Amino acid sequence: MNVLIIGSGAREHAFARAIAASGRVERVFVAPGNGGTALMGGKVCNVPLKAVQLQELLAFARESGIGLTVVGPEQPLELGLVDLFRKADMKVVGPVQAAARLESSKVFSKEFMHRYGIPTAGYRVFCSKESAEAHIGSLGEERFPQVIKASGLCAGKGVIVAADRNEALLALGEIFDDRIFGSAADEVVIEEFLRGQEASVFALCDGRGYRLFLSAQDHKRIGEGDTGKNTGGMGAYAPAPVVTSEVMRKVEERIIRPTLQGMAEEGYPYTGFLYVGLMIDGGEPSVVEFNARLGDPETQVVLPLLKSDLFDALLASVEGGLDAVPFEMHPGSAATVVLASGGYPDAFETGRTITIDPAEESPDEVMIFHAGTALRDGRLVTSGGRVLSVTALGSTLQECLQKAYRAVDRIHFEGAYCRRDIGAKAL
Ligand code: AMP
Ligand code: GLY
Repeated sequence: MNVLIIGSGAREHAFARAIAASGRVERVFVAPGNGGTALMGGKVCNVPLKAVQLQELLAFARESGIGLTVVGPEQPLELGLVDLFRKADMKVVGPVQAAARLESSKVFSKEFMHRYGIPTAGYRVFCSKESAEAHIGSLGEERFPQVIKASGLCAGKGVIVAADRNEALLALGEIFDDRIFGSAADEVVIEEFLRGQEASVFALCDGRGYRLFLSAQDHKRIGEGDTGKNTGGMGAYAPAPVVTSEVMRKVEERIIRPTLQGMAEEGYPYTGFLYVGLMIDGGEPSVVEFNARLGDPETQVVLPLLKSDLFDALLASVEGGLDAVPFEMHPGSAATVVLASGGYPDAFETGRTITIDPAEESPDEVMIFHAGTALRDGRLVTSGGRVLSVTALGSTLQECLQKAYRAVDRIHFEGAYCRRDIGAKAL
């Protein structure tokens, strides 16, 4: 079968690697892909179509005999790619537009959780600065911090944690007057601040049932010790020790099962990946956010730890019978370290030549997934903020981190930056 993967990040490179490893897959197309997927060769090649060119992607899928399409990022899900492909009788992994609102509308997602008693921070929704200000003004100082969120998609950047009333009022001015989040903040959620440790759990769903990957922990801030600006994610590891089997049992019972049941009852059975962002406090999980896809960089640790054939599971998530496919994990851990362009997440330069010294480890132990890279006249150059995601597998997290950082030190481009403390919290 031929497979189309939509997206251009390290997540999609990790998908391409896992899917190309299946004996049942003949060709893998990545739209638009990156320098890494361009260099894979063999079954894999890039297609110059962007993730939001839905009609063009559908036409390509039909012409190229694509048997299964896998959507990486959130925008095409929000735009209804899955609905469009299904109408055309094309098999596609992901939720329909109405179900993807679990990610694309925080108002929908909070109200949904409220309807089904799913644990999450208490919240209110506001459409005007005046009503939001009145709410903030009514809260005693002991109720801060408060978390202010744009309801719509903001590439993970639409959240402000306000330490006190002043910060909250300033944030409301930036959101409603300066429109820093644009129309994504036409509706604003203000919610209680949750304390605890963050981790994420990932399920592949077929509308009724689900299978679980290992849990993971991301590092969202640019600076060591979780300081500085938010980024797309600077590194991750799996499994997350804070997600014990007891916590996982609670997540399944109190969050994943009621979510799938609720979505089915409301008429949009949930299919594809469900990313549950959690805050865990004293062993009790609450939902910080849902995403309707796998995370980046979490995918770069979660997929390499899947021992079973990913393609078989993906196909079953579309055709049904997901409960019957093998879904086994490797023992041990994985860690990934993101190498970024100097300056990211603010302005940065691109077009820097990337060189990678030969590896000592086998490609089953250390994988370099590309994100912001491109091939220019046969030369590999930087083309984005997050450039590479270097993953290592090992029997312990410590071993993974040693291997990943050794590999990072073999990679060179001007201005390269990475956090040196990925995984440190868990050791
Ligand atoms: P979100 O886009 O909703 O995942 O929020 C981005 C980040 O903001 C999360 O990963 C958390 O670190 C933080 N955050 C969001 N909501 C809360 C909350 N209610 N309490 C504490 N931190 C939060
Ligand atoms: N790494 C966080 C996300 O993909 O949303």
